[in-house]
Amino acid sequence: MPVDILVGTQWGDEGKGKLIDVLTRDVDVVVRFQGGNNAGHTVEIGDERYVLHLVPSGVFRPGVKCIVGNGVVADPVALQSELDELDKRGVDTSNVLISNRTQLIFCYHRVMDRVNESGTGVKIGTTGRGIGPAYADKMRRTGIRAIDLTAPERLAAAFRTECKKYNAIFKRCGADELDVEAELAKVLDAAKKLAPRVRDTVYIVNAAAKAGKNILFEGAQGALLDIDHGTYPFVTSSNTTSGGACTGGGVPPQSIRNVWGVIKAYTTRVGEGPFPTELFDDCGEKLRQRGREFGATTGRPRRCGWFDAVASRYACMVNGVNKLAVTKLDVLDDLDKIAICVGYEVDGKVTDEFPASLAELESAKPVLDYMPGWKCDTSKARSWNDLPDAAKAYLKRMAELVDSSVAIVSVGPRRDQTFGVEI
Ligand code: IMP
Repeated sequence: MPVDILVGTQWGDEGKGKLIDVLTRDVDVVVRFQGGNNAGHTVEIGDERYVLHLVPSGVFRPGVKCIVGNGVVADPVALQSELDELDKRGVDTSNVLISNRTQLIFCYHRVMDRVNESGTGVKIGTTGRGIGPAYADKMRRTGIRAIDLTAPERLAAAFRTECKKYNAIFKRCGADELDVEAELAKVLDAAKKLAPRVRDTVYIVNAAAKAGKNILFEGAQGALLDIDHGTYPFVTSSNTTSGGACTGGGVPPQSIRNVWGVIKAYTTRVGEGPFPTELFDDCGEKLRQRGREFGATTGRPRRCGWFDAVASRYACMVNGVNKLAVTKLDVLDDLDKIAICVGYEVDGKVTDEFPASLAELESAKPVLDYMPGWKCDTSKARSWNDLPDAAKAYLKRMAELVDSSVAIVSVGPRRDQTFGVEI
């Protein structure tokens, strides 16, 4: 069954939106399987730039079915406004469907997110979109699902019950209480518009797979933000790794063909948490400016650093990545030398394993290997042969260190700045 998964292999913002847009040339169905509108998938087509948060990145390909899967947490008001925005810009959204099992995010989750972040506990640096609280409700078995968008009375009753519970919490911690009926009116308005898109998408996806259609599972965030495998607790609240595609989309593991890992030629991170190769000098600033490293969802400047092969090898192993797509190679164009982190020194010992311990990660000193820069413009390269030798050597070294193969290289944000390779 031709089912592929595409995931991020770092801390998110690897350029997945662009890659999904490129890969969906030959795809019939795209499924988002986790996360919510904390994601910001940027797609540039000609002079137009779109940032998608919940709508799958296949939406720009006419005829491609785009599914918001059951593993996603979807804010109905935000989803409807994203669809309205796309409609306004002339993008056909009629193929966007929502799984009836998708959990919903509401205003109280967003307020709870803020309350958690401003309390005495650990500050994660979340996107403030209510992601963690919505997944917590799912696990607590008090969440409201998309199936309820089709039953306004049931939805209203459940919403009022949850608001009452949350308002009591907000009162106790001095946060503003919600105006329940005003918020409900917004939810019911979005529900009415979204209801025709709510389906049992598990049957749709499995029927498509059985019929031999090409299906792409679109991951959000990255492996190092995975709730199990990331730098816990500085992670998001879902399984961002490939295993999440089976549970978050409802397909069996044996249906998976390829796992694409999107990997930036350097590393970035937004929010709090350990980042062993972070650069605090001019070079970090240079990467941020050249790479336009500012959050697509929150506008926050991203922390920048060298390519971390220890972290990405762990990510590729857990995901089973067999095809890498290296992005933003051109951002390194004018560096004299480029470092790669090949190990961590922790308590005087060098390891090439990614530690689970936060304390070890925070104290880890990167062991760096330096490679010569290529000092020329790669943004116009359209094939392997157009790349300078030093860039080829860098890509080969990346592939070798993370124990996978490079199949795509991207040298700029546009569709045409992408080419296939075999390394
Ligand atoms: P949350 O997903 O909003 O709960 O945020 C948890 C952590 O994940 C924070 O460090 C966020 O900055 C990070 N995060 C969430 N979504 C993204 C993303 O799409 N790209 C990069 N970082 C993200």
